[in-house]
Amino acid sequence: MRLKNCYRTADFRKLAKQRLPSPIFHYIDGGSDDEVTLRRNTDAYETWDLVPNVLAGVSDVDLSTTVLGRKLDLPLFFSPTAMQRLFHHDGERALARAAEKFGTMFGVSTIGTRSIEELGAMTSAPKLFQIYVHNDAALTSDLIARCKEAKFDALALTVDTIVAGNRERDYITGMTTPPKLTPKSLVSFALHPEWTFNYLLRESFDLPNVSRYVKAGTSIASSVVNYLDTQMKRSIDLGVVGRMIEEWGGPFALKGVMSVRDAQRAVDVGATAIMISNHGGRQLDGSRAPFDQLQAIADAVGGQIEIIVDGGIRRGTHVVKALAMGATACSGGRMYLYALAGAGTTGVERAMRLLRDEIRRDLMLMGCGSIRELNRSMLAARP
Ligand code: LAC
Repeated sequence: MRLKNCYRTADFRKLAKQRLPSPIFHYIDGGSDDEVTLRRNTDAYETWDLVPNVLAGVSDVDLSTTVLGRKLDLPLFFSPTAMQRLFHHDGERALARAAEKFGTMFGVSTIGTRSIEELGAMTSAPKLFQIYVHNDAALTSDLIARCKEAKFDALALTVDTIVAGNRERDYITGMTTPPKLTPKSLVSFALHPEWTFNYLLRESFDLPNVSRYVKAGTSIASSVVNYLDTQMKRSIDLGVVGRMIEEWGGPFALKGVMSVRDAQRAVDVGATAIMISNHGGRQLDGSRAPFDQLQAIADAVGGQIEIIVDGGIRRGTHVVKALAMGATACSGGRMYLYALAGAGTTGVERAMRLLRDEIRRDLMLMGCGSIRELNRSMLAARP
């Protein structure tokens, strides 16, 4: 597979598979348990059909929307994902560049591999910082202060990782960060010399947002499962969220909301947005897909809070369906991660350009001059 032949996420996935040592490929690609939710996240979009209106006199389309206080040129942004330096040496910088180029937002993970300060200084593109409630309260407060100083636009608190999902692929491959050299992983690294060369000779792997507080993952090789299981505070409740919103004082998203009850609680606590998400099918397997929950959530809290549908997006039509059902915007991880692994900044930009062009073409074919014209009369449940 070559980049110039990549058109759909499945193509970028093939490219990533060629270039990455297997523990790293499977870390991106895998979900939890039987990966039922991972598959359903995308399949859910097939349960509703689009009903276009023709003869609408559409000559151009406006894809812009406002999310978490920033105007975006398109209703799709890059979800925060961990460990990007492992996938490609461009790491988070690729996302910063692509967000700027396409006028969209990028998320930076707490366990990202470039610092809050570097990314803040690098671009004025809309930036969201993904935060966890760590056991160490000083770390959580430190992250909030650093994000303010670096002028991040929004904070997204992930609430679906108080314990790690059962990611069996990672147990089998022995995936850790930094990568551990075992006889099996050594073979995989040797078979992917370009990745290995770049990993060893370019900037070294680090988790600069947490490394002052936590050694696991940088000085001590750790699996992500181990990181989540040892570092996350389990007893978080709505009070913790309220105090964080107060401490941050800016646009705030609750990420990992799946139920109508929790969407209502997000409104009550004063969040700006919810990200309907099951963590890319990596946490609770058997959980419903974000798109399956969207209708009920939009009925309950639409107009009171921004609704971001996170997960499973592989096509422009998926975004169009989510917006027609009542979402404010969509976001995704694997939709750009395979492209990042396959070709760094150029790959991410190609993946986003294709998706942006699809959304624009789909809107025209739907007979809509702007995403604001999409509504439920343009969707029909498949019989
Ligand atoms: C993941 C976390 C760390 O691996 O976001 O899913």
